[in-house]
Amino acid sequence: MADWAIITGASRGIGQALAVRFRQHGWGVMNLSRRPCPVPGVVNVGVDLAAPGWEAQVGQALRDSVGPPSGRLSLVHNAALYEHDDALSLTAEHFRRVLEVNVVVPAVLNRLVRERLTDGSSILYVGSTLSEKAVRGNASYVTSKHALVGLMRATCQDLVGTRVHTACICPGFTDTEMLHEHVGEDPAILEAVAKRTTFGRLIEPREIADVVWLCANTPVLNGAVLHANLGQIES
Ligand SMILES: NC(=O)c1ccc[n+]([C@@H]2O[C@H](COP(=O)([O-])OP(=O)(O)OC[C@H]3O[C@@H](n4cnc5c(N)ncnc54)[C@H](OP(=O)(O)O)[C@@H]3O)[C@@H](O)[C@H]2O)c1
Repeated sequence: MADWAIITGASRGIGQALAVRFRQHGWGVMNLSRRPCPVPGVVNVGVDLAAPGWEAQVGQALRDSVGPPSGRLSLVHNAALYEHDDALSLTAEHFRRVLEVNVVVPAVLNRLVRERLTDGSSILYVGSTLSEKAVRGNASYVTSKHALVGLMRATCQDLVGTRVHTACICPGFTDTEMLHEHVGEDPAILEAVAKRTTFGRLIEPREIADVVWLCANTPVLNGAVLHANLGQIES
């Protein structure tokens, strides 16, 4: 009766912190990403979620490693692309690629695990503060993160009667490679970003993992959008 977490993008950042948290509590963890998750005991499925063919590979890995439905399953949609772009110059190819990884992949994964969603299971979406507001220069990301909230709310309605729950956890500025790649390594800029939380510091990935873990174990949060941003200062 093992409980399993299926996490996209656990090779680094928030996803890796999630793998640590679920493993600490004795859950089986399967990571879906191109690079492996270094956390001991994690089953790594090396997939590029932006390329064709991943669906069959994940289906096979679920049969081989997770086996028939038994304990709880938490599917955590964490992997995402965060690109600099703007709403007036998006190309179809670029926009489709971001939407594919950030929105289409979660929907397809929901279908792949559907038969394994036993009582107490959950489908958890990692959104962003940009799930409910926009900033300049991130049109594809903003659009995809808004879409995730819609997908989560639809998931909640379509799970009626299943005793499976869902939620969307929306991190603020979290100290991961994604943030560093996006804003760069200039200490002054990083400090300015940190000062945009009321605590004056970046969020640790494990703090977001704590919230996701809470959601996995708290069915009353079904349908909730949870902002985990350390009190972001609006400018
Ligand atoms: N960091 C923040 O400040 C922040 C703020 C708000 C929301 N978030 C959200 O939190 C989540 C995690 O963010 P993070 O900061 O931890 O990001 P990250 O450090 O960039 O990690 C992203 C993960 O997604 C995986 N991934 C990306 N493209 C993939 C692909 N084509 N196929 C398979 N896996 C892919 C990466 O794995 P591989 O490269 O190994 O494939 C990596 O493990 C994202 O949904 C992000 O939008 C983050």
